Amino acid sequence: KRGGPVIAVDGPAAAGKGTLAKRLAQALSLPYLDTGLLYRAVGRLALDAGQDPAAPAEAFAQKLSPEDLARRDLRAPEVAQAASKVAAQPAVRQALVETQRRFAGERGAVLDGRDIGTVIFPDADVKLFITASPATRALRRFLQLGGDQSAPNAQAQVAEMEEALKVRDAADSGRKTAPLQVAADAQVIETDTLSAEDVLAQALAFARRRLGQ
Ligand code: CDP
Ligand code: CDP
Repeated sequence: KRGGPVIAVDGPAAAGKGTLAKRLAQALSLPYLDTGLLYRAVGRLALDAGQDPAAPAEAFAQKLSPEDLARRDLRAPEVAQAASKVAAQPAVRQALVETQRRFAGERGAVLDGRDIGTVIFPDADVKLFITASPATRALRRFLQLGGDQSAPNAQAQVAEMEEALKVRDAADSGRKTAPLQVAADAQVIETDTLSAEDVLAQALAFARRRLGQ
């Protein structure tokens, strides 16, 4: 029996899962794990090895080191695409399950990803599904990566980002193993018209109700 709650934050790319999960963890004094980073690190290692990310990559997942996870180049769009490809491999996912479950350990935790509330912690105390339209998410990711909205080609770059996010979402939702889907007991938050602060307020209110706090 766990000493602290598990809070699952799932949703499509660039919806604001990490931003919310980090703030929730802080507000509730829980550890936070960005599970996307695990898949990004595996994707990065596959790219470094000159390997097609669709080729078997479980060897990379089995020997992930803290250094691999601390790399500064994991946020790049090409790494996100590679992550999505290695993440479709059942053996890669299997190799990362225990790391994620152990992280919540005794204290509980907030974890964000795609399958936290459905596969990793189907018994999570609180499940949140954070989403927004592809256009909103593309703009958020463009700005987050340092894009300049007043640049002459900004519109084309945001459109390209939107296309890339849609391709990745389709792959993540359509795969056989642990696809992105809304858990039956998840609270869905549509964030198109919400600030990160608004999302935190709604999520905290829901979490506190569920936790009886
Ligand atoms: O983790 P995920 O890919 O879902 O998204 P993120 O990296 O947490 O957030 C993407 C960007 O959206 C960040 O720059 C946030 O500041 C911004 N944002 C947000 O997270 N929530 C909103 N309601 C509005 C903007
Ligand atoms: O920040 P963003 O939402 O763009 O991506 P991320 O959360 O860092 O995840 C990168 C990729 O890893 C996703 O497109 C998924 O294919 C995969 N992933 C997954 O399959 N399961 C998770 N729990 C987390 C990420």
